[in-house]
Amino acid sequence: MFDHRSTIALFVAVSCGLPCVAPAAARAEGRASISVELDRPGVTISPTLYGIFFEEINRAGEGGLYGEMVQNRSFEDTENDRPLADGEQPLAWTLVKTPGAEGSMAIDSSRPLSANNRHALRLEVVKTAGGGVGVANAGFENVSRKPPKRAPATTEKNKAVEGIAVVAGRQYDLSLYARADKEFHGPLSAVIIGPRGKVLAAGEVGPLTGEWKQYQVVLTAGATEPAGRLEIVAMAPGTVWLDMVSLFPRQTWHGRGNGLRSDLGEMLDQMKPAFVRFPGGCYVEGNKLVNALRWKKSIGTVAERPGHWNLWGYRSSDGLGYLEYLEMCEDLRAEPLLVINCGMAHEDHVPLEQMQEWVQDALDAIEYANGPVESHWGALRAKHGHPAPFHLKYMEIGNENGGPLYAERYPLFYKAIKAKYPRMTLVADGRLPDQPMDVVDEHYYNSPEFFLRNAGKYDKYDRQGPKIYVGEYAVTQNCGQGNLRAAIGEAAFMIGMERNADVVVMSSYAPLFVNAAWRQWSPDAIVFDSARAFGTPSYHVQQMFSAHRGDVVLPVAVESPTAADESSKTGMIGVGTWSTQAEFKDIQVTQGGKTLFRSDFSKGLAPWHALGGQWEVKDGALRQTGKATGARALAGDRRWSDYTLSLKARKLGGAEGFLIMFRVQNPHQKSWWNIGGWGNHHHALELPGDGIGEPVPGHIDVGRWYDVRVELQGGRIRCYLDGKLIHDEPPQQLKTLYAGASRVTRSGELILKVVNAASTAQETLISLRGATAIAPEAKAIVLTSADAMDENTLEEPRKVVPVTHAVDHVGKSLRYTFPAQSVTILRLKAH
Ligand code: AHR
Repeated sequence: MFDHRSTIALFVAVSCGLPCVAPAAARAEGRASISVELDRPGVTISPTLYGIFFEEINRAGEGGLYGEMVQNRSFEDTENDRPLADGEQPLAWTLVKTPGAEGSMAIDSSRPLSANNRHALRLEVVKTAGGGVGVANAGFENVSRKPPKRAPATTEKNKAVEGIAVVAGRQYDLSLYARADKEFHGPLSAVIIGPRGKVLAAGEVGPLTGEWKQYQVVLTAGATEPAGRLEIVAMAPGTVWLDMVSLFPRQTWHGRGNGLRSDLGEMLDQMKPAFVRFPGGCYVEGNKLVNALRWKKSIGTVAERPGHWNLWGYRSSDGLGYLEYLEMCEDLRAEPLLVINCGMAHEDHVPLEQMQEWVQDALDAIEYANGPVESHWGALRAKHGHPAPFHLKYMEIGNENGGPLYAERYPLFYKAIKAKYPRMTLVADGRLPDQPMDVVDEHYYNSPEFFLRNAGKYDKYDRQGPKIYVGEYAVTQNCGQGNLRAAIGEAAFMIGMERNADVVVMSSYAPLFVNAAWRQWSPDAIVFDSARAFGTPSYHVQQMFSAHRGDVVLPVAVESPTAADESSKTGMIGVGTWSTQAEFKDIQVTQGGKTLFRSDFSKGLAPWHALGGQWEVKDGALRQTGKATGARALAGDRRWSDYTLSLKARKLGGAEGFLIMFRVQNPHQKSWWNIGGWGNHHHALELPGDGIGEPVPGHIDVGRWYDVRVELQGGRIRCYLDGKLIHDEPPQQLKTLYAGASRVTRSGELILKVVNAASTAQETLISLRGATAIAPEAKAIVLTSADAMDENTLEEPRKVVPVTHAVDHVGKSLRYTFPAQSVTILRLKAH
């Protein structure tokens, strides 16, 4: 511990790494040209097109954006979702003693601070030997001092590792609640110290009484230190109880009390988000309903908020609560979009007859945000310090919920909200036939090639259907912890969204933040530790697109050279059915002359992994007897490539035929051959990112064994049924150049967004058709790097960042060379 007269301190450190290798982009073959039609303005671009999605994941808030520097400030945390018992050692706190001193600490619930804050810390000081006994908290860890680890949320949490970062000359507000027994006479010493024991800031708290009382002291840092710790030390014998030990930088973002970390708030500000979707994600749903976020428990006095265990593997204090989120939106000048739990968690749901309480929660959330101060919830908002309404206009009913349970619950919210607040825009998680929908939320996590292939996805959307909010999307495969190639895939997709801004009215990348010491989901837009932060290339693309928005789309024709799709062609195998019962046998995977796999059902289902349906082994075959849609059983190795899958399949009953799976990486990233699909009328290939291939008429008879064979060679797929070639899918080619244009009506500027996904620079002829006047000088903002695999890191945060260049000699046509693997924004003055 810090000897409060001399100085000694120790620390531990952890960081994180998820290495990943991605395929390089291919060389482009062909001519490149872009022509923009300036005199044919198209659809209006929604001002809300670019927003952000904040989810409490990866310690984005707790130990991140939320300014609190103390971990487990209220002594309620555990390393997993279990009740806390008296006598336990507190998570993230350590006992510290000067030489010769004696004492102990333990969780104690004998006289809690409040009914919501049931545990406190008891510190017993037996002997001080002229020094003291105390407790130390190292904040939320500083990654630069820790070895890599993959599952930070469940391991090593009880170790204090330094992560309280202070800056010389800045003030830090320490607040704690304390009481003492009659034996204790003396103040508490509070210090922030560095890893080598240097005192960075010091103060005193007390005298203490027998009753709980809040004490506050300002600690001013005498030096800058990214890896400090906070120590609260009793300098006299006796017993002391502590609770809600909180340390906040005085300098929060926008200077709010209980506010946000200023550097991270600043990074959000630079994204210029039009809206903020919050506070999750799966976080809102919870594993079970007990973990679901209930906004009413996240308002009011911070010490009175009970907090809750969240499904991302840590406890949320809910200090960053509903009001704080709304204030964040206000400070960002962004529209709030609240995601409300729709009575569904991942593993359970609210019975229909008890849904009223949850619907009421949604209505009350609107009143809390918008209601007049005379209203019940509006009055509470005013009492909490914000009498002015927030003008909440958007609410999402659930997150990634679907199926029959959602179909029953969505209308309850929609009807009740629209009846009371007809102007609210409501976001649905998916399409429901016969239900009114304002906006539908779509989520995509996939490979760079998926996003390149889907750059034209929204060109085909029904203009009469609901508007689309691409609420979560990111390259999550073959992208390290967020490389340039990922950003390129996303940028091409975003050009497609912007071109279809009449359909896609909102979008947000996900996830937004990761504390580098608590990485649970990768990649993320902003990476930070306790003292530093940087944006991944994806962050920079978000920022570039958002900062350079036009208000009307201009038609663009792109002549794009193509390149072979280099995305991974590996994966496991599987069999399945859709509302159909069937059995499978003699399943074999060969590669060249080698057998990689041969089914053996003598010992039961293993190694098959069932997903949905009712699977059993019967008479030497793998049998699916349930009625589920998409019942699947998977086996094999994700690394298998260029293989031939052969098997026998027999339909036993039901609506369709067989699903034969290959290149399966996970339940979502897979290819399948749908034999006798679409009501047993067609066979077709369903490949990730490509939707459904050319259907071939065909059906499957009950009771007959069919021979099925799928041959994979490079990018080519050949499918045989009873020896007859049904599909021959050639290797795919990808476009390498993607472009979109818009006009800023007010300034008359033309914004051209261009992605070059090739591994070579492309000299491109740009024609500005219908232009009457063009300024000869323009500006290019370019994001690129020497290698598409390049990433930013805490050590090298600016390896891949946008750079601005001047462009001259701009005319009706110009030749511009887009660097290999780049995202470029050209800003021109042209009418
Ligand atoms: O963005 C991470 C998670 O991905 C979100 O919680 C969820 O909505 C999605 O599955």
